[in-house]
Amino acid sequence: MNPFSLTFGKEPVSAINRDKQVNEIVEGFTSENPEYQVCMITGVRGSGKTVMMTEISSRIKEEKNWIVIELSPDRNMLQALAAELSNRFDLTQIFKEAKINLSVLGLGLELDSAPPITDIAVALDRMLAQLTKKGRKVLVTVDETVANQNVREFASQFQIYIRKQYNVFLLMTGLYEKIYELQNEDTLTFLYRAPKVLIDPLNSDLIAKQYRVIFDISEEEAKEMANIVKGYPYAYQVLGYLCYKNQCSYKDILYDFDAYLNEYVYDKIWSEMSEKDRKVAVALANSETGKIEDIRNRSKLKANELSVYRDRLLKRGLIKSSQYGYLEFTLPRFTEFVKKKYK
Ligand SMILES: Nc1ncnc2c1ncn2[C@@H]1O[C@H](COP(=O)(O)OP(=O)(O)OP(=O)(O)O)[C@@H](O)[C@H]1O
Ligand SMILES: [Mg+2]
Repeated sequence: MNPFSLTFGKEPVSAINRDKQVNEIVEGFTSENPEYQVCMITGVRGSGKTVMMTEISSRIKEEKNWIVIELSPDRNMLQALAAELSNRFDLTQIFKEAKINLSVLGLGLELDSAPPITDIAVALDRMLAQLTKKGRKVLVTVDETVANQNVREFASQFQIYIRKQYNVFLLMTGLYEKIYELQNEDTLTFLYRAPKVLIDPLNSDLIAKQYRVIFDISEEEAKEMANIVKGYPYAYQVLGYLCYKNQCSYKDILYDFDAYLNEYVYDKIWSEMSEKDRKVAVALANSETGKIEDIRNRSKLKANELSVYRDRLLKRGLIKSSQYGYLEFTLPRFTEFVKKKYK
């Protein structure tokens, strides 16, 4: 069976260790004095956000007293959280003890003696207060966050639970622009202060090592393959997948490799960029050096304007600056992709 997978959002068979960032976030939440209660993971499409979040969830689920619940931004999230909590058998007793009657909300937990709660936010408040009292901690995870009504309503309520010092934690993933939009809501300034973690590229040495084990190739060839991938998780899977499927050297499938990247990710990324973002990208692609000055001349943008767009591209994880005054694309073959667009 091909150990590589082109499916998004699913933990791949051949995974490259990301312990450094995973540990940081797990510890940030679970240490005795948590560094933060809200954390957001951002990064371009295909950079491994969903896979990393899944790993963090499974790690925290193993911790004593932790409850981890994943919510979708497509549903009423307060309702969904209350439903998930009340459906857990291990928590029934805790809620019964506090005489929390959720029958009117259709959540099953029924008690004769207590009047039923009719407002979902109030119900959750009572449940979380009770869980906190019992030393339980609740982590809510939200993948692919958007700034829709469900998320806004949920986040503004969550803010109140945090203020009340309940043991509640929130981990979200999303594209930078979505998270940016959400945190700029007047009522959600607590998100503005929460740490935003830009997901790291995969370690190139580890990538080379994996390729070497799987394909039984020379160290040099494995390194060449890792250099092509540039630490981009989706590219790591695609290159491996094609080599395995065709049982050939990476040199024979580079054309297909490009086609996969373009069709499944780069076209989408491109369509989400603004006119000015693209101007900067085209200038960078055509610049031999990547020098800011050269990009400014080519894009014909004013210095302060360029710095705004450069900043945005950096925060989205599309470009990086390994050397002061110079820029480069983070994604493999993106220069070629952009050049082709404007031929
Ligand atoms: N640690 C890893 N090692 C190897 N491959 C990985 C790793 N993490 C993710 N991948 C691969 O990268 C691809 C993208 O992963 P994932 O779906 O997590 O990205 P994403 O950032 O959530 O993308 P999107 O923004 O589109 O939701 C998948 O093919 C996945 O198998
Ligand atoms: Mg994802």
